[in-house]
Amino acid sequence: MKSLRSLPLSIRFVIPLAAALILLAYALVPLVERLTLRWFVRDLDMSSQMIASTLQEPLVELLERGDRARTNALFRRATKDERLFAIGYCDAGGKLLYRTPTFPESLKCPHGDAAKKHSYAVHQLPQGGVHVSSHPIDQEGTKAGSLVLVHDMSFIERRSADTRNYVIILFVVLGVVISLITVFVAHLSWRGWMEGMRAMLRGEGIVKPFIQQAPSSELQPLVGDLRTLLQTLDAERRFADDVTITWNPDSLRRLLQKELAGERIIVVSNREPYIHTRKEGRIEVTRPASGLVTAIEPVMRACSGTWIAHGGGSADRDIVDGRDRIAIPPEHPEYTLRRIWLTQEEEAGYYYGFANEGLWPLCHIAHVRPIFRSSDWQHYVAINQRFADAVVKEADSDNPVVLAQDYHFALLPEMVRRALPKATIITFWHIPWPNPESFGICPWREELLNGMLGSTILGFHTPFHCTNFIETVDRYLEARIEHESSTISRSGKLTLVENYPISIQWPTPWQDTQPSVDECRRKVIQSLGLAPDHLIGLGVDRQDYTKGILERFRAVENMLETHPEMIGRFTFIQIAAPTRSSLDDYQAFDVQVRNLAAHINQRFVKGAYQPICLKSEHHEPEEVNRYYRAADVCMVTSLHDGMNLVAKEFVAARDDERGVLVLSQFTGAAHELYEALIVNPYHIEQTADALYRGLTMPDIEQQDRMRSMRALVRDYNVFRWAGRMLLDAARIRQRERLAARIGSAE
Ligand code: G6P
Repeated sequence: MKSLRSLPLSIRFVIPLAAALILLAYALVPLVERLTLRWFVRDLDMSSQMIASTLQEPLVELLERGDRARTNALFRRATKDERLFAIGYCDAGGKLLYRTPTFPESLKCPHGDAAKKHSYAVHQLPQGGVHVSSHPIDQEGTKAGSLVLVHDMSFIERRSADTRNYVIILFVVLGVVISLITVFVAHLSWRGWMEGMRAMLRGEGIVKPFIQQAPSSELQPLVGDLRTLLQTLDAERRFADDVTITWNPDSLRRLLQKELAGERIIVVSNREPYIHTRKEGRIEVTRPASGLVTAIEPVMRACSGTWIAHGGGSADRDIVDGRDRIAIPPEHPEYTLRRIWLTQEEEAGYYYGFANEGLWPLCHIAHVRPIFRSSDWQHYVAINQRFADAVVKEADSDNPVVLAQDYHFALLPEMVRRALPKATIITFWHIPWPNPESFGICPWREELLNGMLGSTILGFHTPFHCTNFIETVDRYLEARIEHESSTISRSGKLTLVENYPISIQWPTPWQDTQPSVDECRRKVIQSLGLAPDHLIGLGVDRQDYTKGILERFRAVENMLETHPEMIGRFTFIQIAAPTRSSLDDYQAFDVQVRNLAAHINQRFVKGAYQPICLKSEHHEPEEVNRYYRAADVCMVTSLHDGMNLVAKEFVAARDDERGVLVLSQFTGAAHELYEALIVNPYHIEQTADALYRGLTMPDIEQQDRMRSMRALVRDYNVFRWAGRMLLDAARIRQRERLAARIGSAE
């Protein structure tokens, strides 16, 4: 059995097929023989009748004359035909009167009625089979006797043997031909099938990348079933993962060990997690206001590995080693930060220009026009290449796991893919993805899409952004899209487009060290010189035009108009971290924010009281956390936002289960935090009502809402976000390995 298995598949298939055909041939031979015998016997009979009718006349004449010698001579002449073996003539009484010497002794003359009509039979004689026919001879109208003709049938046997051999040879030849054709066709189908299987295992559905067509129709149902099965298994595994895994740094670490063989992670982002700046001769470390950093940093601490980012701090160069690396976090190093340097001109083109004047407004519906300049694009391409080269250098295997972050690196996935075809590249787009028409205004739309499709997995916050992306690819690129599995196949590469709603670390890093809610509140109130029961509203943002800060201020103004009893009792604190300040749009926005705050403050000023407290400076995360704990209402009123982690940070900070979140319906967070007061920030009155409702909400309702939101942020924390992407990546890697193995087993 084992030796049979070691034979090539084609031989294993041909042997039984050939054997079956030979057996069939042997089964058919007797049938063919019987058939041919019947034909020959009938032929012989016809020729006997012809001979008999030819002999009739001369024979009757000779019989009448009683000329024995000439009768015998006639018979001898007739038997010259090699098949006519013997002739005899019997009288009416059944007596043999004339015969050739060859006439078999054992043959009897027909007599009685048998002699009066033609008949024939096959006899077996010692020398072989003979065909014996009897033909009545009429003499003057009466039956005088019968002519008996004996035909040799040995030629039939000879011919039967030949026929048998021919039939067998025919079947053997047929068998070989059928086998060869079948093996050939099967081989082609098998290759197609295997290709389909491999494609499916890679997650491509039934894609044949090299010919870009579906498999043959007969394989379709089977492949379809298998694909459904794999999808079901995936869904079940995902579900099981969600139910069974408690996501925390440990489970993420275990997942890396188990599913990704302890692979070191390489993260690429523009913004670095720790910025070193020189201030008054000292080096200070700060953590930037960036949702991306908030999310990725705890993941990197859990997974370790290398984070490649732009070294933008004034003291960043002073602190790295000879290979531009530094171990971080500074107080307790857990991973490596590899810094990439940019000249001012490069930063102006790639970061301020293409990324933040082009892609940022392009992807956000905030009514700020994108600006695209060719010179910015050139820098964007060059810097993406620089970071991609750094990834390749940092990789310690040919199939590293790379996490590429955000709109600064749309081209990098394809660049890394070219250098490391086996890399697992997970790209996460932290901002929204617009509809195809909006995206279409970018002059380099095809290049950007193509670059992103170098990713193994492309993640967005919401299914809506995934759909927008897939539709954009559909509109502008030649690619095969499988909506069912949410995959895009282009030039033989496959990208899974999936939604992974980002989140934050749970519990917060300050869980055990943070001051109590009361203390936080007391401190904030004291710092502003307010009464202990003063109501506090809070906004925490980068000072960005997408964040809806102006709309928020207008809502505060409207609320004070409609509820004048709140004047003097309520203050709105806006923490606005300076951001991208060298851009015109941001400078103009800063002026607008300041002016509006001043205008509202002027309107409602009451002694030392001012309703809006604008803090336009950087705050470290611990400090922001204290404000979260002090606030009665937190307002997140983005005009458009991928997720908005401020909303989740506020919820995480409130272990007292108090505080109300007013949340814009245009954030990704609104798809998860249903218990927030959801508003349309463009609708000033509605937002003002929500603010008032939040400030006056009974404790019990606050608790119900906050408890439910906290449960969601706890379960759907950032470790789950990263874990789900890494699990998907692990599955894809596993399938690719299997596909490669199937390929080599062919
Ligand atoms: C958004 C982007 C991040 C970025 C952050 C801060 O959240 O998605 O990529 O880091 O804004 O912006 P900045 O330009 O200061 O890095």
